[in-house]
Amino acid sequence: MRVEVLGQNRIERSAASELMRGLRSLAGESSPEVGPDSIVLATVDELGPEKRKLIVPALEPDEFQISWSRDQSLRELDIVGGSHRGLLYGVFALLRHLAEGADMSRAVLRERPAMAIRWVDQWDNADGSIERGYAGRSIFFEGGKVREDLKPVAEYARLLASVGINGCNVNNVNNAAPFLDSAMIRGLAKVADAMRPWGVRVAMSVDVASPQKIGGLATYDPLDPAVKAWWNAKVSEIYALIPDFAGFTVKADSEGQPGPASYGRTPADAANTLAAALAPHGGVVLYRAFVYNHHLDWNDPKADRARAAYDIFHPLDGKFAPNVIVQTKEGPIDFQVREPVSPLFGGLTETSQAMEVQITQEYMGQQRHLVYLAPMWKEVLDFDMRVDGRSTTVKEIISGQLFHRTLGGMVGVSGVGRDGWLGSPLAMANLYAFGRLAWDPNLAPEEIAREWAGQTIGNDQEVVRTVAKMLMQSWPAYEDYTGPLGLQTLTDIAGSHYGPGIEGSENNGWGQWHRADREGVGMDRSVATGTGFAGQYPPEIAKEYESAATTPDDLLLFFHHVPYTYRLRGGKTVIQYLYDSHYAGAAQAAEFVHDWETLKGRIDPELYNNVLSRLEYQAGHAIVWRDAVVQYFLKLSGIPDEQGRAGHYPGRMEAEDARLDGYQVVDVKPWEDASGGKAITCASAAEGAAQRSCSAEWTYEGAAGRFDLAVQYFDLQGGVAKFVLTVNGQAAGADATWVADAMLPTRRLHGDNSTRHVVEGVVLKPEDVIRVDGTPDGTDPAALDYIEVIPAGKDPH
Ligand code: GCU
Repeated sequence: MRVEVLGQNRIERSAASELMRGLRSLAGESSPEVGPDSIVLATVDELGPEKRKLIVPALEPDEFQISWSRDQSLRELDIVGGSHRGLLYGVFALLRHLAEGADMSRAVLRERPAMAIRWVDQWDNADGSIERGYAGRSIFFEGGKVREDLKPVAEYARLLASVGINGCNVNNVNNAAPFLDSAMIRGLAKVADAMRPWGVRVAMSVDVASPQKIGGLATYDPLDPAVKAWWNAKVSEIYALIPDFAGFTVKADSEGQPGPASYGRTPADAANTLAAALAPHGGVVLYRAFVYNHHLDWNDPKADRARAAYDIFHPLDGKFAPNVIVQTKEGPIDFQVREPVSPLFGGLTETSQAMEVQITQEYMGQQRHLVYLAPMWKEVLDFDMRVDGRSTTVKEIISGQLFHRTLGGMVGVSGVGRDGWLGSPLAMANLYAFGRLAWDPNLAPEEIAREWAGQTIGNDQEVVRTVAKMLMQSWPAYEDYTGPLGLQTLTDIAGSHYGPGIEGSENNGWGQWHRADREGVGMDRSVATGTGFAGQYPPEIAKEYESAATTPDDLLLFFHHVPYTYRLRGGKTVIQYLYDSHYAGAAQAAEFVHDWETLKGRIDPELYNNVLSRLEYQAGHAIVWRDAVVQYFLKLSGIPDEQGRAGHYPGRMEAEDARLDGYQVVDVKPWEDASGGKAITCASAAEGAAQRSCSAEWTYEGAAGRFDLAVQYFDLQGGVAKFVLTVNGQAAGADATWVADAMLPTRRLHGDNSTRHVVEGVVLKPEDVIRVDGTPDGTDPAALDYIEVIPAGKDPH
């Protein structure tokens, strides 16, 4: 078989080499029943008038067609793109179909993306760190400069192109000023060179105060002529080196970033100044609607961060230049496990829009938890805003189709790093799904999950079925054990955004409040008695959210403050639902371990073990979440769990109740992150002195039998503590010795680093002495929360 490329463009060459590479690796697996004699790759323009007439007269730029030559004797497969990028997408589509085992021997495929903007945003800093990145250091930057080795950048671009992503904004939306420095722009030109063969255009975040910060001007007022001239010159400098530069992303007047408000100017003023500089070169501005005051007054019942984007941007509708796109996060707060759709999507009918979602799992378990986000994104895309009382889905709005905008799309905050892209192998399903949905928002998340699993994990039907099932169950499970009923992720908002911290979002200016008190929980956002946020939606939706009785259960507490005894539409009381969902969610997390174990021997062993240990960790951490939220609401409400679980932990023995040698009892903050609010820590030896272990001992008083023994310990940064579990002085089992060497987010003792270690099959009889020896290391004090004796095989782990 021959591959013929009609043009000489670099993207076409990538397409050809990708095709050969893909076909080679597929050969023998699922090659087409009847292979072609030749495959021709071309753009419509390269076809020549005769052939064009025969194959396809016209295509949109990123569109492609794959078809067989009409002349049967030729057996020629033509992959034609509206542009070079289009044909590259055609190649990837063909390979995807073949990998799925599709019969392409007669098929004709013609596809075009639903949205023009299909970008990923990296929040990489010049020093090589990545804001909200969970997979090591930047592939782009190190030590204030673009890295020498840009091979991973080219590989990233290839990965992005394979799912139709056409832009990459490479730097953090915060602290962006240094990126407009001339040396940095020269570095970015190399990044653009590395991504160009894959049709991925480079964009960058800019600080609107740059004219002052790096340009030396006295002002950055966007309406000042000198400021405008500075931007024009800077943009020309960029385009001289990067002729296909995609544009700017802007975070302004938000979380400490400077903005036009300092001069009494609007976001439209700032956006349009940048847009005017970019327009002659074909660049765009993605102006983020994530503008809000993070010094809100918690005591003010009318204060509401959720209102900010609509309050600020809706009045500016129609005032933005044609090459400005307002980029809005999918919900009105900040990538929480559940939020309503941002009302701003319905509030801008004369402005191009993009929806920003997060691929990096900031509030979603930071890649240590399996959370497949496509079902959540899909709910938002399919949401019908009912603008003017007619069907107006978010996907039609952001694609530009509905309000006749030429621009629009989806932006995914990606955060890949040098440590295996997203760190966790299964998290890559999110990057894949993001690209697929931006290309075609009508795809079903389950289909995407199956596609991804088949191409990535293994194409045996059982593997595809199991992985797709796990992916589909993962977001609902995470919602269940972190923040159900619209409470949002109940984590410390001013901290790492990882483990449980229920009060952490209250009593501060950040506005991520849930307003739990002794009588009830939830934030009143109704028009009648609350903040009025519900009124920002078009009338039909506003009416639904206005009353607790018509608000869907999964958003109830986002819109209403109700008593714990309030009955949900599903019939349960709010408090009982909180208990039940946390137990169900943690049980589901445990189930993932069992599901994955069924794949042993069917997939790559290294991948199997890697994911297994992650899922085991998740199952343990889901219990930390469950217990924190449940004991918090049990104490606050004083209402017992109908099923008797909350506050009762059969088989649990607290560390603070043990016979301690060397260990000290400490209070954990927040209290709900430890069982009973307390833990024990072992002091590190003074420098130079030999490190001493500490021990905790319990006498077993239950029935004789075989058990799993769970040890709940805290794995702190800054040292690798060691633990040994013994029964009557003998190692308790094969895993009786372990080390605390995980890299969890924080250095203090709490739910972020509370970790479960399970030793299986321990034989116990009354009066046996169970003992844990902990050896601290550096700043890790070998801290323990409790041990739990669980009938063998019954550990939710
Ligand atoms: C979140 C996140 C920040 C980020 C911000 C943004 O608040 O925690 O790290 O800068 O979103 O989207 O700008």
